[in-house]
Amino acid sequence: MAIVYGGDYNPEQWPREVWAEDMRLMREAGVNRVSLGIFSWAKLEPEEGRFEFDWFDEVIDLLAANGVEICLATPTASPPPWFAATYPEALPVDAEGRRLTHGSRQGFDPSSDVYKTAALRITEQVGRRYHGHPAVKLWHIHNEYGCHNARSHSPAATAKFRLWLRERYGDLDGLNEAWGTAFWSQAYSSWDQVYTPLPTPTIPNPGHVLDFKRFSSWQLLQLYKAEAELLRSIDPDKPMTTNFMTGNHPDIDLWEFAEAVDVVSNDHYLEGPAGHVNLGFAADYTRSLGGGAPWILMEHSTSAVNWQGRNRAKAPRELLRNSFAHLARGADAVMFFQWRASRQGAEKWHSGMVPHVGTDSKIWREVRELGARLGELDEIEGSRVHADAAILWDYQNLWAQEHEAKPTADLDVKAVRESCYAALWRAGITTDVAHPEGDLSGYRLVVVPAVYLMSEAAARNLKHFVASGGTVLVTPYSGIADETDTVYLGGYPGAISDLVGVRTEEFYPLIGETVALASGGTGSVWSEAAEAKGAEVRDTYLDGTPAWTVNRFGEGTAHYLTTFVDDDTLDRVLAAAASDARVEPAADAPVGVEVVRRSHDDGRSWLFCINHTEADTQVKTDTATVDVPAGEVVVHAEHA
Ligand code: GAL
Repeated sequence: MAIVYGGDYNPEQWPREVWAEDMRLMREAGVNRVSLGIFSWAKLEPEEGRFEFDWFDEVIDLLAANGVEICLATPTASPPPWFAATYPEALPVDAEGRRLTHGSRQGFDPSSDVYKTAALRITEQVGRRYHGHPAVKLWHIHNEYGCHNARSHSPAATAKFRLWLRERYGDLDGLNEAWGTAFWSQAYSSWDQVYTPLPTPTIPNPGHVLDFKRFSSWQLLQLYKAEAELLRSIDPDKPMTTNFMTGNHPDIDLWEFAEAVDVVSNDHYLEGPAGHVNLGFAADYTRSLGGGAPWILMEHSTSAVNWQGRNRAKAPRELLRNSFAHLARGADAVMFFQWRASRQGAEKWHSGMVPHVGTDSKIWREVRELGARLGELDEIEGSRVHADAAILWDYQNLWAQEHEAKPTADLDVKAVRESCYAALWRAGITTDVAHPEGDLSGYRLVVVPAVYLMSEAAARNLKHFVASGGTVLVTPYSGIADETDTVYLGGYPGAISDLVGVRTEEFYPLIGETVALASGGTGSVWSEAAEAKGAEVRDTYLDGTPAWTVNRFGEGTAHYLTTFVDDDTLDRVLAAAASDARVEPAADAPVGVEVVRRSHDDGRSWLFCINHTEADTQVKTDTATVDVPAGEVVVHAEHA
């Protein structure tokens, strides 16, 4: 089978005459699949209960006639204006109690039953009409759950939040204990007293806020499941997905969502100068969410996006490097938002496969080249990426750390994860992303980036991993509180103090300063009064406080840092941990040249070499030397 290639197709934005040209250009570019109907609700159901499908029939038949398969969306991410006008109570309410209005997208309250009814009605219509169409290969449910409206404070949300809490804690005693309401006289004596977290005179209860984030994610998942169940009853065998945002989306728990989809798909947009490194994380995380199975890159951009402060066009060949990096990390589909750049609307400055300027353009030439190259890589479809290393990542930990009252406002867990992942990327170590309670038995090295919220089960999991011979690299602010955000006692990091062989009495966050290390490196953001309790001290602050410790634990080794070290030092520490773990890069490549291997069980394998630098270079494996020109991508088949 072929690698899937295409993008979001929004023909309703264009006059009919353009559709024929779209078909011609899709063939020219080698497009073999589009996502259709994502934002078509208003055109499919212009008034409540009145459906217009003729135009959609025409588009679907046109695509089919041109050999383009369809990933058919339920258009429920953007209810039409009639919905807001008829059911204003179904609009989302923000944390200040303001009811939002129509005029953008995702204008619905996830807890609204009225919304759910309307969403299921259009889903059923689309499902019944097109499930048997031979070009429809996959259901694309909704679009980016929680992208804009994850947390609503409507009366419906309040009522459902209470029910969710009852289910979780059984009774108010359980709730009061979990939230620690003995503090500041917050004990609840009736469920009616519990609201979504609204503005408070000062610091709100952390357990309350964290549970609201969990509830909000769960509520969106119920919407996904309701649509999926309905479609399943109409079309039992077709796979279903919804597009995640593993690169930066903090509002839904993707580990939970991933269990509900048949195939994992992802949207990724570059941010900042090291965007291609974050791309690696996002792709590795997407693959890991699906347990290593090939996945769908549902959206990325051919060039600029429109929602950043400054939206830079991609450099020549960047489109190709980005696309191949996703492919290298396990995608079997490379798709874009969107086919044709819009002339109007909120995203008119977002690039497309067909840019405003037309086909005499860098973008179109690269789109065609990509299509042609993917067309020659059919054999790669279904192959997998193997990783000996994993980095832990968990939304609940992120949400807990968003709380305002903490040792330092400068500690950003996302930045910690990014710096750890960047070190793995620089070292060329292929990495999975694992849940703290997930199965770690397939790994030899696990990186623990500020996993502050660590359940007892997660702590046991890590200890079991190391005791059985694994190596961990743990950063500060890990293993501090359990899943109810209750601090572990007896010395930090309380949940894993024995694992790392260190006991810390107090934290000394750095306030605009750095701490010098005996090795010559520096630490920033954080320092702590750590005492080695059995661990070997490899580096110290100048006053002798341990900065980097290594502890033997069972058959394995735990590296622990007590400050956030500079990149060179982190590279050294990681190299030591990787050597303990006997983990090696996919190939020998200079920094800035991305190397990842995909292979089939039968021994066929490909080394993807992506040169992000401006110098021609070579990548070496045990059996080959591969020339990789500046800025280029080489896919090297390693089998005969
Ligand atoms: C995604 C979304 C698309 C489009 C794209 C570009 O988040 O799914 O519909 O908005 O971003 O901004």
